Amino acid sequence: MSKSLFLQELGNQKYKGPLYVSTILAEVFKSKDISVLDCASGTGLVAEALQAKGFTNITGLDISEEFIKVAEKKGIYKKIVRAFIGTDRMPFDDNEFDAIVCCSGVLPTHISPDAFREWVRILKPGGFFSFSIRRCYLEVMQGEEEFYSKPFADKIDEVLQDLEQNNKVEILPRRECPEYIENSPAYFYVIKVL
Ligand SMILES: C[S@@+](CC[C@H](N)C(=O)[O-])C[C@H]1O[C@@H](n2cnc3c(N)ncnc32)[C@H](O)[C@@H]1O
Repeated sequence: MSKSLFLQELGNQKYKGPLYVSTILAEVFKSKDISVLDCASGTGLVAEALQAKGFTNITGLDISEEFIKVAEKKGIYKKIVRAFIGTDRMPFDDNEFDAIVCCSGVLPTHISPDAFREWVRILKPGGFFSFSIRRCYLEVMQGEEEFYSKPFADKIDEVLQDLEQNNKVEILPRRECPEYIENSPAYFYVIKVL
């Protein structure tokens, strides 16, 4: 196990992201049989939290083979797909999932908000996606392709507002998680697919 993976597993007591996202899902969905896609599933911490709330129909997706191996050993995911989330079509059908969760995966260096368009495609109407991002990352400039012209938060808003204006989604109030990891706060975005 690599050092960072070890630290991630070790530090999970102080990392509240999985607990928060599973709580949001349990609030939104009465049924525990819903199909959930855990994007950037990592070592499976989110699946553990979802299972503790009664969710069982969980598919994982991550780019890291090493993390997938750790997650698979937990025996919670129905399957874990190895894929990179970019702007390409994701390996899932239209309307395949009821919910998508993505904890600490939407980041300037990881998953771009452009992926939300695919999330809308693979979610059922009435489905939800929720992702979390630490506050400190929201002000980071987006990336070379945009000449560092705007903070990451603007990129998130731009894609979400475009989807909302096209009547694809409803943006629900963003929730703050003050103790996301140690003393670093984060936000959970909650989006309903129309
Ligand atoms: C900080 S970890 C979060 C893991 C897990 N969601 C959690 O909360 O414990 C970020 C994860 O995103 C994955 N990742 C980063 N960029 C990705 C991409 N573009 N497509 C798929 N997975 C990605 C990494 O391999 C890593 O497992």
